[in-house]
Amino acid sequence: MDKKRLLIIGAGGHGKVVFDIAAKCGYLSIGFLDDADENNPLVLAGVSDFKKYINEAEFFVAIGNSRVREKILSDLIANGAEIATLIHPNAVVAQNVQIGCGTVVMASAVINPDTFIGDGVIINTSSSVDHDCKVADFCHVSVGSHLCGTVNVDSHTWIGAGATVINNINICSDCMIGAGAVVVSDINVSGVYVGVPAKFIKKL
Ligand SMILES: CC(C)(COP(=O)(O)OP(=O)(O)OC[C@H]1O[C@@H](n2cnc3c(N)ncnc32)[C@H](O)[C@@H]1OP(=O)(O)O)[C@@H](O)C(=O)NCCC(=O)NCCS
Repeated sequence: MDKKRLLIIGAGGHGKVVFDIAAKCGYLSIGFLDDADENNPLVLAGVSDFKKYINEAEFFVAIGNSRVREKILSDLIANGAEIATLIHPNAVVAQNVQIGCGTVVMASAVINPDTFIGDGVIINTSSSVDHDCKVADFCHVSVGSHLCGTVNVDSHTWIGAGATVINNINICSDCMIGAGAVVVSDINVSGVYVGVPAKFIKKL
C-alpha cells in the first residue's frame, strides 16, 4: 500500500483543517470523500465509495458529529481500512501518552504525561489536556479549552470552546459543555451544561 496517500471523509470546515495537518504530516496525496461537496475538485467520490480505495490509501474521518464519526470509522475498520492518527507538528505530546486511531491533535494543543486519548477524538487547536487525564472515544476537546490534571471524560462528550474542567473531575458520556463553562464538580447525568460554575440546562 502507498503509505503516502490519505483520504479524508468529510470535506467541510473540520475536514479543511485536517487536510492541512495531513499535509504537514507528510502525506503526499490527499483527497476527500464526501457526498455533499461535488464542486470541490479535491472530492474524489462519495463516502460509500470508500471500498474502491481500501488498498490504496489510509483514511481519516473528519466529521464533527461524534455518532456519525463513530459509524463511519467502524465501517472502515470492519472493511479492513488502515486508519490514520494525525498529530500536528506543532502540538506538544508528552511522554507516556496513548492516542487512539482516527484521532487528530491540532496545532498548539498540549497533552501532558500519562494521559489516555481514545479513538476518533478531536483535540482541537490550542486546547490542553493535562497529566493523568482520560478522554474516551469520540470526544471533542474544542478550541482553547482546558482539562486540568486527572480529568476523566467519557465517550461522545464535547467540551466547548474555551471551557475549563478543573482537576480530578469526572464527566459522563454524551454531554455538551458550553463554550466558556467552568466545570467544578462531577457530571453524572448526560446533557448540556453551561456557565461558571457549569450547570445543567437541558437534555441533549
Ligand atoms: C451550550 C450550547 C451547545 C447550547 O446551544 P443551544 O442548544 O442552541 O442552546 P441555546 O442557544 O438555545 O441556549 C439555551 C440557553 O443557554 C444559554 N447559553 C447557551 N450557550 C451558553 C454558554 N456557552 N454559556 C452560557 N450560557 C449559554 C443561552 O443564552 C440560553 O439562555 P436563555 O434560555 O436564558 O435564553 C452552545 O451555546 C455552545 O456553547 N456551543 C459550543 C460551541 C463550541 O464550543 N464550538 C467549538 C467548535 S471547535
